[in-house]
Amino acid sequence: MKTLIIGSSGLIGRNLTSQLSEQGESVVCMDLDTNTTPNLDGVELIQGDVTNYDEVSQIINTHEPDRIVHLAYLVGRGALEDLSLSLHVNLLGVDNVFRASVESSVPRVVWASTLGVYSSLDYEDGLIVTEDSPRPYSPYTAFDTASYYSALKHMNEYQALLYASREDLDVCAIRPSTVFGPGRYTGYPWVGSFVEDAVAGKTTNVPMHPDSTFGLVYVDDVVDLFEKVTLAKKLNFDVYNTGGNLISLSEIAETVNTVLGGNFVPDPSREPTFQFNISNNRARDEFGYEILSFADAISRHAALLS
Ligand SMILES: NC(=O)c1ccc[n+]([C@@H]2O[C@H](COP(=O)([O-])OP(=O)(O)OC[C@H]3O[C@@H](n4cnc5c(N)ncnc54)[C@H](O)[C@@H]3O)[C@@H](O)[C@H]2O)c1
Repeated sequence: MKTLIIGSSGLIGRNLTSQLSEQGESVVCMDLDTNTTPNLDGVELIQGDVTNYDEVSQIINTHEPDRIVHLAYLVGRGALEDLSLSLHVNLLGVDNVFRASVESSVPRVVWASTLGVYSSLDYEDGLIVTEDSPRPYSPYTAFDTASYYSALKHMNEYQALLYASREDLDVCAIRPSTVFGPGRYTGYPWVGSFVEDAVAGKTTNVPMHPDSTFGLVYVDDVVDLFEKVTLAKKLNFDVYNTGGNLISLSEIAETVNTVLGGNFVPDPSREPTFQFNISNNRARDEFGYEILSFADAISRHAALLS
């Protein structure tokens, strides 16, 4: 099976490229900047811009993939840095991939939505969220810097549903929780550095209250679900949560400081914020999907650095 990974130089794309290639799958990679896509035997790297329909279409026509995994995006606060660019990449780019896939009869497109489509402010504490939970959303009551990104992902979900219903595109979303792992450069700065800091003996100052909760998932687990959904012959659903370990900042501090000898310091002067439990039972039931515990995940990450 041949897979085209668009956004192959990012956190998820890089790790997915290595994983699929190690499994002996045929992989073609495209990114605006291919410098951080792994340069592996047999993996073709193509520099391309997802906002350019002709480029996307030409790459798909030339390589005739059986699967496309679309990961090119301006993530989190990155969606707010240049509003016009983020509309081009995050809305038009998604449309380009879906439209070109329909025109070239690509058998399946897998793409990344986010846990952010479950707006945390709308849920009661302790609720377990499944793929079918309502996703009420109002920018006037729920707006924060992350919610604009989430609103774009909402729109992408509409785009996917319309391409599925009108054009019969086989398109499946994965909603990752907050991903950490080697080489996270975008999104929350501390999520990208806390394991590296601990291994290097540096303090990680985190601008969040110790009681705040966060749903974290290790990149290998996210890649595992992308791989399962990409390679499956048939899917029972068109959206799957990765789930994550819902953990407070004080629990993160305790685990990082105990397991890795780090110095992870949340900030009690901040207002606490809460995430919610995202169920991945759907993926577990269909694919036997399981995720690592937080302690095992940070140990695996740290082992790669030593
Ligand atoms: N990392 C997370 O915590 C997380 C959580 C939920 C969902 N997601 C989603 O997963 C997907 C991948 O996330 P990630 O963390 O790997 O992101 P990332 O920021 O690490 O990578 C995004 C990639 O997209 C590429 N890109 C940007 N603009 C492009 C363009 N115009 N043309 C071609 N390529 C372009 C970048 O060069 C980069 O390599 C995104 O859709 C993101 O929203 C990520």
